[in-house]
Amino acid sequence: MRIRYVKLIMIGVLAISWCGLWSLSSNGAAPGSWMNVILADITPLAAAQQRPPSQHPQPNSENGHLVVQLCDGRTQMEIADVREGEVLPPEKARLVARRMMARYEQQAKQASKWTRRDRLIWKREQQRLVEEGRRLFHDWKAIGGTIGISCDMCHPDAANTHPETYPKFQTQLKRVAALRDMINWCIENPVKGKPLALDDPRMLALEAYITYQRRGVPLDPGKH
Ligand code: HEC
Repeated sequence: MRIRYVKLIMIGVLAISWCGLWSLSSNGAAPGSWMNVILADITPLAAAQQRPPSQHPQPNSENGHLVVQLCDGRTQMEIADVREGEVLPPEKARLVARRMMARYEQQAKQASKWTRRDRLIWKREQQRLVEEGRRLFHDWKAIGGTIGISCDMCHPDAANTHPETYPKFQTQLKRVAALRDMINWCIENPVKGKPLALDDPRMLALEAYITYQRRGVPLDPGKH
C-alpha cells in the first residue's frame, strides 16, 4: 500500500517537472514538439552571444611559453622555445601553422563528435537570432528610431538590401563599406536613430535576418 503512494507521488513530481520544462522551452520552435524539450538547456549559449567577441579566454602556459590556439577554439600548441608576447620569426611561424593544421586534420579524420542534437541546437540558436533580427527590422523603437519609420516599410522581407554585394563602395559613405556600415547608415538616416555599436547584439541580429533572407544567392562583393 505504502509503495503505491510513493509511486503516485513520484509520478506527480515527474509530471510537474515535465510541464516546467515544457513552458521553459516553448520559446521559438513549433509548440509542443519534442525538440523543445530536448533543447531546453541552450540558454547559456544564448547568453554567450551577448558577450563582446574579443573577450574570450586566451590559453596560457604555466611556464611563460607561447601557446597558440586554432580557430576551432580547441586545438592548442605550446611552443617551448618562444616566450609569451614574442613574435615568431617567419620560418618558425610557417612551421607552427603547418604543424597545427596537421594536428587539426588528424583530429578531423577521427569520427566527428558532433551529434544530431548538437546540430539541432546550433540551428535553433541561429534561427532565434534570425527571428530577433526580423523583429527588429519591423520595430523602429527597438533599434532607436525616432520618427515611426521602420526598415520593413521600405524593404519588405528585407528586399533590396543585397547583403551578398558587400563589402562594396557606397557613394553616400564615400568609401568601401561593410553591410553593417550600411545598416547603421539607414538607422541614422531614414529611421533617425543613433548608429549601433558594431558588436551590439541587435546589429548581429539584423545581419542574421538580412543575410538569411538572401540565403543561397551567390556572393558577389563589389556588385552594383
Ligand atoms: C524610407 C525608406 C528606407 C528605410 C526606412 C530604410 N531603407 Fe535601407 N535603403 C533605402 C534605399 C532607397 C536604399 C538604396 C540606397 C542606394 O541606392 O544605395 C537603401 C539601401 C539599403 C541597404 C543597401 C542596399 C544595397 O543595394 O546595397 C541596406 C543594407 C539597407 N538599406 C538596410 C536598411 C535597414 C537595416 C533599415 C532599417 C534600419 C533600412 N534600410 C531602412 C530605403 C530605406
